[in-house]
Amino acid sequence: MLKGKTLAFHSYKGGTGKTTLITNLAASFAKNGKRVCLLDFDLYAPSLATYFRKKPTCYLYDVLNGNVDISDILIDVSSDLGLKGKLFLGLSSPKKEDVQEIEMSHDLKWQLKAVRRFLSAKKSLIENYDLDYVLLDTGPGIRYWSINTLATADILFLTMKISDMDIEGTKKMAADIYDSLKKFGLQYYVILNKVPGASPIGDVGWEENEFTLTEELENDLNTKVIGTVPCFCDIQFNRHEFLFSIKKPTHLFSKKVIELSKNIEKIVFPVE
Ligand SMILES: Nc1ncnc2c1ncn2[C@@H]1O[C@H](COP(=O)(O)OP(=O)(O)OP(=O)(O)O)[C@@H](O)[C@H]1O
Ligand SMILES: [Mg+2]
Repeated sequence: MLKGKTLAFHSYKGGTGKTTLITNLAASFAKNGKRVCLLDFDLYAPSLATYFRKKPTCYLYDVLNGNVDISDILIDVSSDLGLKGKLFLGLSSPKKEDVQEIEMSHDLKWQLKAVRRFLSAKKSLIENYDLDYVLLDTGPGIRYWSINTLATADILFLTMKISDMDIEGTKKMAADIYDSLKKFGLQYYVILNKVPGASPIGDVGWEENEFTLTEELENDLNTKVIGTVPCFCDIQFNRHEFLFSIKKPTHLFSKKVIELSKNIEKIVFPVE
């Protein structure tokens, strides 16, 4: 059995913080000595390149198309970031033609072939690079490649904001999609992000509601809420996206990321 596990981050609505959390978690795992590969499966609106300021010559789409090997697209950012372990990136093409082509110009046969190609590439990636984690960032909602990506993962982390729209949408998506993937062995957990209260934005009464909402979600979704991350104005309104967990390790957000990484580690590699 493969040692490395594949974790996907998904959400019903956009902007819940999937990319922010997955990049910071990836860096945090690698800082602790783990071997990690982070892949940008938000094929419709790729964003990992902004975080890492890298421009590769070929992309995940080329792997799905069968044009290149997955090792050809990887960028090793470990030494740039001073990480004890390894962090490899696989980015997605921001080119308009590629984004359109992936959804519109291919038939179902191609799409299935692409999923098979990725599954086999992922297996060799874990073996050849001796990976502990493959992390998949996805696009929100139920678009074709978001769901395909989830189907290739071992564990799914649902990133949610505390808004009725997100909560109701997530419950519906759980009933429509996650529960059917569960039958094929996919486990899923909830992470609440941008939780009000960390910044001085008034009396939002979050603490009082935290227990009630967590209980409601755990009951309705039949899973666990494995972490809550506060909303920080300096992150939300920063002009440049960057890795807080590496650049500002004493920031409360970075501490929350470490807490979350430990909770995830316990789920992924439980101690016997
Ligand atoms: N805990 C947080 N506190 C404050 N701002 C946050 C937090 N987490 C994420 N953000 C900010 O929210 C915005 C959206 O985050 P991000 O791009 O990670 O969301 P996403 O779920 O990946 O969005 P999309 O679905 O569009 O890909 C960014 O400006 C990010 O800096
Ligand atoms: Mg994103």
